[in-house]
Amino acid sequence: MPAPAVAAERAAELRAELERHNHAYYVLDAPTIPDAEYDKLFRELQGLEAEFPELLTADSPTQRVGGAPLKEFPPRRHGVPMLSLNNAFEPAEVEAFDKRVRDGLETIATVDYAVEPKFDGLAISLTYENGVFTCGATRGDGVTGEEVTPNLRTVRNIPLRLHGEGWPALIEVRGEVLMFKADFAELNARQRERGDKEFANPRNAAAGSLRQLDSKITASRPLSFFAYGVGAGADALAVRTHSELMDKLAAWGFPVAAERAVVSGSHGQLEFFAKIGTLRPSLPYDIDGVVYKVNRLDWQAQLGFVSRAPRFAIAHKFPAEEALTEVLGIDVQVGRTGAITPVARLKPVFVGGVTVTNATLHNEDEVRRKDVRVGDTVIVRRAGDVIPEVVAIVPEKRPTRDLFGGEPLHPPFELPKVCPECGSAVARGIDEAIARCTGGLYCPAQRKQALWHYAARRAMDIEGLGDKIVDQLVDAGLVHTPADLYKLTVETLAGLDRMGEKSAQNLVAAIDHSRQTTLARFIFALGIRNVGEATARDLARYFGNLDGIIAADIEALQQVPDVGPIVAASIVAFFNESHNREIIAQLLAAGLHWTDGEPADAGPKLLAGKTLVLTGTLPTLKRDDAKAMVEAAGGKVAGSVSKKTDFVVAGEEAGSKLEKALELGVPVIDEAELLKLLEKGVQE
Ligand code: IVH
Repeated sequence: MPAPAVAAERAAELRAELERHNHAYYVLDAPTIPDAEYDKLFRELQGLEAEFPELLTADSPTQRVGGAPLKEFPPRRHGVPMLSLNNAFEPAEVEAFDKRVRDGLETIATVDYAVEPKFDGLAISLTYENGVFTCGATRGDGVTGEEVTPNLRTVRNIPLRLHGEGWPALIEVRGEVLMFKADFAELNARQRERGDKEFANPRNAAAGSLRQLDSKITASRPLSFFAYGVGAGADALAVRTHSELMDKLAAWGFPVAAERAVVSGSHGQLEFFAKIGTLRPSLPYDIDGVVYKVNRLDWQAQLGFVSRAPRFAIAHKFPAEEALTEVLGIDVQVGRTGAITPVARLKPVFVGGVTVTNATLHNEDEVRRKDVRVGDTVIVRRAGDVIPEVVAIVPEKRPTRDLFGGEPLHPPFELPKVCPECGSAVARGIDEAIARCTGGLYCPAQRKQALWHYAARRAMDIEGLGDKIVDQLVDAGLVHTPADLYKLTVETLAGLDRMGEKSAQNLVAAIDHSRQTTLARFIFALGIRNVGEATARDLARYFGNLDGIIAADIEALQQVPDVGPIVAASIVAFFNESHNREIIAQLLAAGLHWTDGEPADAGPKLLAGKTLVLTGTLPTLKRDDAKAMVEAAGGKVAGSVSKKTDFVVAGEEAGSKLEKALELGVPVIDEAELLKLLEKGVQE
């Protein structure tokens, strides 16, 4: 055990060092030591304080983890009242404010303003006595707040002891406690995992966390603080302006807004407002406007106050991003990939600068979790250009069957069992949040997407059937499903925009050409969810024919290498939908054909373990087909050449990959040699 005097000295040293690292990490965002090192010092201090309880001080970093729960928060009278700000929304109101200031100061000169973001958190006041944080309180009614000192000690970027010097014996530092957007998202993810209630927004999360009687809970919540002013003690500071005051606070260890500035007149104010407006989405915390303060403190004093707000400052607010409104109905929308999204139809409400009538509810689980029902009053949020969403319901306002708060008038939301667009079954894969229409090829909402995919190079490879043409064909009602493509004539096509006689002929020929295909391409072209090119190939190879795949159940499908329960379920759901089977029948009737795939136990894997790179245009094989053949033989096709490449297959106009191969001494072969390899394997 060290001698008490030695222990006292070491404890003081550790406190100072830990707080220095803390400040570097949480205020300057520039960590100075690894976490493990910090923990070691922290434990050493904890150990000393346990041995010598008299060494424990109010400003010890060990106090940041929270203490014994309180029964209630004691009231705290502020040394200087905490005022509020008047609001401006329009430029004209800002100009009027500037004019009032100049009139009040009887000056015709341009006035300088200290400008800063308006943090969307909770106002608090921190009292430091002789440089040590001794008391922190909420704003309350402005005169008396609630003392939440143990909770505020847990806020990592609040200094427990002031840095530097020159601070008065007693000072109240004013600012805002908030939660960073990223911390909020992490906290909510944690709440969700544990099945605890999620918070509607960072502000509510910060408020809920700060008002915990158990400071250990607050300690587990990632709160942050920003200083924006001083209450009691301001007179004792040798500063002339608000911006100097902020510099001083920063030097004492307080986090202050990096965006703060000094501007001239209403012109400068409005410019700053616009700038912060653009920065807003990328700021790490929520703000609800900007604050303009006359920079000169003597002028502030001269202007004074009207009732409870200063004449020298004003908040210029962004339009509110959240508003209350009523749910008139809940519809579902079908996306281009068949995703079914529940959407709340709302009583029109002005929010985020526009009138909102619909808001997304994301998916079935979200609606259940939030328990949104018809008739509910809800918080709607629209931030920037994002799609408006329902944040939460207001449970107290839920309409009930009787006047006594009995049963809710409306039942919980249920997702429809069939797609509202096409009547196909709605299915939700294992572990998937999103339900989908299984009508794939048939569903009008998915029509364009299904056709683009069907015609894609790696699918049916219909050259000339691009997005624009598909859009026109669908919009004109000429094509509903892939089977309709095979009925198109040169005359019909030539009538489309940007389509000449020649291109129409070429397109009809390309469509015709696609009738001869492979089973793997056809399976891929169907656009079955979770079935990519490789899976399509595996299915073709394993089953050898289409009927086998259609007839297979989930069990049978999982016998295919790399097909798990999720993929198997998607395949079954797709073929269970009679609309899809109908379209496949139509396609076959239109003359689609292929030579059935290889049987399951296809020949030896002649290229097993070999890596090939394809480059340039091969004389007869399409790149995708060559790739498929190599893969079918157990080989791998890589995108770039390295020393590990076994062969580079070069066609016409091969470029840098060929050069690289020559440079590294990798064997270069042509298509004929590739075909030989595929037949005979590598002769070592
Ligand atoms: S200065 C005399 N500056 O806005 C009043 N307030 O509506 C001094 N707020 O409760 C306030 N960011 O909590 C000031 N940069 C900022 C602010 C800010 C947010 C809050 C403050 C106050 C409310 C006033």
